[in-house]
Amino acid sequence: MVQWVGPTLSPVSAIEHYISMDSQEKTRWDTRYTESPESWTEPDDFLQRAYSEFLSKIPPGNALDLAGGAGRNSIFLLERGWNVTLMDISEVGLALAKEKAAKAHRQECLCHTGLGCPSFLETSQIDLNTLTDLGTDQFDLIVCFYFLRRELFPAILRALKPGGFLIYRTYTIDRMKVGGGPDDPKYLLQPNELLRAFSSLRVIDYHETTEGKAAAELIAWKS
Ligand SMILES: C[S@@+](CC[C@H](N)C(=O)[O-])C[C@H]1O[C@@H](n2cnc3c(N)ncnc32)[C@H](O)[C@@H]1O
Repeated sequence: MVQWVGPTLSPVSAIEHYISMDSQEKTRWDTRYTESPESWTEPDDFLQRAYSEFLSKIPPGNALDLAGGAGRNSIFLLERGWNVTLMDISEVGLALAKEKAAKAHRQECLCHTGLGCPSFLETSQIDLNTLTDLGTDQFDLIVCFYFLRRELFPAILRALKPGGFLIYRTYTIDRMKVGGGPDDPKYLLQPNELLRAFSSLRVIDYHETTEGKAAAELIAWKS
């Protein structure tokens, strides 16, 4: 069982992680972020909507951005006062995220605490295909956009603190009709799958789009 042991992996476990990493996937995403560093920069519109409707009034806490890539959603949260842990396999993506975080810290904080912005971004280069544990009651918010590994669902549930929110958006099987996204069903949700997977949470918003992005979108909290 591989466990996430926090931001400071021991040298030995860091090396073990590196060796066991899916190097094909890492190379694919490193190449993509190197070739188009300007793509995946705007925060996801679903995160923006979910945030303004459900999260903008609660005090910022600790957030996890799973497979957060170049950090467009992490930075959105960071600017609003959240401490963000960004996990991803791509070191190029993580380096871009760190650059953006440094810039964001030089700009005005958008959180509503009036205390200035004490928030930080912690990046963790990790192969989420080998991870089975994200800790227990660790995060006030977990966001996951356009990444699917079903085996992580129980870990996500455990890692949310009571009262914590989950915001998840990724492609459904309908994406195959529209084209342009992953074409392996392993990476595509079945109808209602996300809803069923997180039915132990209080689901406050769920819907599926069948055109365009063809994605399922879920907002839920742990009671
Ligand atoms: C479609 S991108 C989405 C990135 C980000 N969530 C966003 O919305 O901007 C998918 C991300 O998953 C990451 N990824 C793919 N396989 C992974 C793995 N096995 N472990 C960790 N991250 C992985 C990629 O590096 C990439 O950043």
